Amino acid sequence: MNVLVIGSGGREHCLVWKLRQSPHVARIFCAPGNGGTAKDAENTEIAATDGEALLRFAEERDIGLTVVGPEVPLVDGIVDRFESRGLRIFGPRRACARLEGSKIYAKEVMDRFDIPTASWRAFDNPGDARNYIRGRSGPLVVKADGLAAGKGVVVCKTREEALTAADRMLVHKEFGAAGEKILVEDFLAGEEASILLVTDGETVIPLISSQDHKRIGEGDRGPNTGGMGAYAPAPLVSGPLMENIHGTICEPLIKGLGKQGMKYRGVLYIGLMISGGNPYVLEFNVRFGDPETQVVVPKLQSDLYELMDRTVQGQLAGTVLSWDPRFCVGVVLASGGYPGPYQKGKKIEGLDCLPSDVTVFHAGTRAEPARSGEGYEYFTQGGRVLTVTGLDPLFPQAQRKVYEAAEKIRFEGRSYRKDIGNKALKFLSEGVK
Ligand code: AMP
Ligand code: GLY
Repeated sequence: MNVLVIGSGGREHCLVWKLRQSPHVARIFCAPGNGGTAKDAENTEIAATDGEALLRFAEERDIGLTVVGPEVPLVDGIVDRFESRGLRIFGPRRACARLEGSKIYAKEVMDRFDIPTASWRAFDNPGDARNYIRGRSGPLVVKADGLAAGKGVVVCKTREEALTAADRMLVHKEFGAAGEKILVEDFLAGEEASILLVTDGETVIPLISSQDHKRIGEGDRGPNTGGMGAYAPAPLVSGPLMENIHGTICEPLIKGLGKQGMKYRGVLYIGLMISGGNPYVLEFNVRFGDPETQVVVPKLQSDLYELMDRTVQGQLAGTVLSWDPRFCVGVVLASGGYPGPYQKGKKIEGLDCLPSDVTVFHAGTRAEPARSGEGYEYFTQGGRVLTVTGLDPLFPQAQRKVYEAAEKIRFEGRSYRKDIGNKALKFLSEGVK
């Protein structure tokens, strides 16, 4: 079977790496891919958003399964488009992808199915938004309704900050169409965790929990990024808490959508705040998380192609996944300056002398045939460049392995957070399992 993976990040390289291990997979293509997928797959220069060209490619290359990495093509309806031509594709249809495409819609759905989330109101009028904000006590979070590449969320400590954020969106239109409507919600204090689940619309299979680190700076300071590191499982998510999440969030959502004629097929990412021991949904993403995928998928021992194939066929019932019991830690190496302006084209050294339990997934990289004639040389091409991941039965050892490897991989301006995993260490040392 030929497989096409759409996207160009660390998430996509990780999916390619895992799919390649399946005996069912013959050729594997990535559109447009990165330096890592140039090695592990065949890149094709088609943008992830060019639905028509992707469809043509899938037909011409006899692609038996297409896997969609990023949200934009899903929200644009790539799954409906492929399915209408009889092509098999892993991901939710456009109607279900609205869970990520509109934060207000996601909140409406959560209220409909009694899914725990922060109190909220939606606005398209600045005057109404200001009145509401002035009437609330406590910190607030202001969110642009539409897709804003992770930048449309402003956590506000004071009412003044919230008023400014609402005006930036509704009056100054800083987020364009994505900010024509906004959501104002109560701030929830707690610890964040991410849950990925795979579903065919009937059977819901939660994957291992994980935790992302969204801020650029150590101690969760500084501006938000696409994610600077992650680990799995998140010791914060104990067995009973996972059952609670499954029973109060995953099942009601998927079953509820199904009853309304919306079969969710694919992977769903649930961003959670664990507050006072209870889970609250912060956001839904209708795709794999990045960098969560890079720490969850290496722990999956089952065949990823089979899992995706069963999902697409609506045959997940009875599927039991097996997991590597080791901890996985992943640290993102970024270009200097990221998430602000950064330089590209820096040569990456040290990728070829890493231990076997360390795997590096590429994101913003470009491959060129090596001058020696064998293999590739790699150059930086984006803000988040690589995710270095390591497995070990002991969490501190997994962390140490990853940081030793990260230190060996060099490129000009390289930067990374030194504290990925410290929160888990705290939980583990307190004996919370
Ligand atoms: P979102 O894209 O909605 O997940 O928001 C991005 C980040 O903003 C989250 O990962 C949280 O760190 C933070 N955030 C969003 N909503 C809330 C909330 N209601 N309370 C506290 N923090 C939040
Ligand atoms: N790690 C956050 C995301 O994938 O959106």
